[in-house]
Amino acid sequence: MEAAQAKIGLVGLAVMGENLALNIERNGFPIAVYNRDPDKVERLLQTRAKGLHFIGAHTPAELVKSLERPRKIVLLVKAGQPVDWTVDQLRPYLEPGDIIVDGGNSWYEDTERRQKELSAKGIRFIGSGVSGGEEGALWGPSLMPGGEEDAYEQIRPIWEAIAAKVDDGPCVTYIGPGGSGHFVKMVHNGIEYGDMQLIAEAYDILHRGLGFSAEQLAEVFERWNGGVLSSFLIEITAKIFKVKDPETGKPLVDLIVDKAGQKGTGLWTSKVALDLGVPIPTIDAAIMARLLSGQRSQRTQAAGALEGPRGKRWAGDASELVAAVHDALYAAKICSYTQGMALLATASHNFGWNLRLGEIARIWKGGCIIRAQFLDGIREAYAKQADLPILLLDDRFRDAMSKAQLGFRKAIAAAQDLGIPCLAFSSSLAYYDSYRSERLPQNLTQAQRDFFGAHTYERTDKPELGAVHTEWQTLLG
Ligand code: 6PG
Repeated sequence: MEAAQAKIGLVGLAVMGENLALNIERNGFPIAVYNRDPDKVERLLQTRAKGLHFIGAHTPAELVKSLERPRKIVLLVKAGQPVDWTVDQLRPYLEPGDIIVDGGNSWYEDTERRQKELSAKGIRFIGSGVSGGEEGALWGPSLMPGGEEDAYEQIRPIWEAIAAKVDDGPCVTYIGPGGSGHFVKMVHNGIEYGDMQLIAEAYDILHRGLGFSAEQLAEVFERWNGGVLSSFLIEITAKIFKVKDPETGKPLVDLIVDKAGQKGTGLWTSKVALDLGVPIPTIDAAIMARLLSGQRSQRTQAAGALEGPRGKRWAGDASELVAAVHDALYAAKICSYTQGMALLATASHNFGWNLRLGEIARIWKGGCIIRAQFLDGIREAYAKQADLPILLLDDRFRDAMSKAQLGFRKAIAAAQDLGIPCLAFSSSLAYYDSYRSERLPQNLTQAQRDFFGAHTYERTDKPELGAVHTEWQTLLG
């Protein structure tokens, strides 16, 4: 193609970048690509992009020169310093009105800093969540763009074309101003951590509690994927249990070291929730579980030293426990999504983002890692009542909880009796029971704080007194 013919540019040809570039071109937008390692550009153009409308740029200047104006450049580089480095490489060649779209998992406050810095030169900066992994990038991700709306309008045709499609449209919407797009992607990842931990705990109870083999587990998760738990993560879990290691013939999952990694977006979700004062115990538990899994050497040492049930099997009817674990998974999932949506609602209020929670649930129905029909119920809940205080109070979810909570309790009780940890299940149940409690034991906490620190308390019978302090020792006589 001649110069200045590409509709859009892309920097960063790792897995996500390469696949998103192919998705963009396949949807009819000639694309120019650049990568710090020029070999990656050549390799792509000689293989998967051969004969397609691709321009290979060997310098940032070449990339910019090959784009029609206003220029649109998507960054798929590692979050943090690499984004700033790449922006610095491009900035000298950009002109007012040009647009940079950061599609990485960037920290939302970094995005707002970049928007401010670049606006001084009239350059627009959009922070867009991109979810769906390699497959999603290639065939249709869920996209969460945030920043100035008129800048988003410039990329909307491309973003809508490449996004996953569900019954009510493309899985993309303008999220809101500033870093809201990256914030929503961060919360998506926090919810993803919660889903993955809840599935892991369900697996652990069935595997250790009932001695289920990978084959039996595949059958259970496949069956669950046909009902209310239907989702991408349940679907791939069933597939994972079917995969045999080619060398040993054993289920590959049984050969994997039980130490979970984490790139950081889940941790950010917990930190932000603490700062905003939003309880998200299920997501917090998912991060704690990953950290505990990382303490493998200490666990091996402690396993021989700490007393407790070991290798114990559930003595009751197996199908009963399977049904209870199913209900626990669904009930805990509702609690986890309630927490995620509550965090979005609080951020929206505190930062003035005016987030549309129903629309966010809608674009998560497809393309992203947490994609599931379940999200349509959340969309509907906020369509019915945009200011729903918490998702648990929506009729559908309230009734689902009431039906599932016996199994929820039974599965957790079984796990605790068998010595199987279920951090996320039990945190979710405690969240549910806390919300159902008209009176929690923090009256005692207030008494203790006033006893040792004169931090005062309020009285239930005399609210007009406001903050009260008692000389506890004096009253002791
Ligand atoms: C997505 C994923 C992706 C994330 C991976 C790894 O939405 O496509 O969330 O953005 O990077 O899941 O995340 P962790 O290493 O934190 O598990």
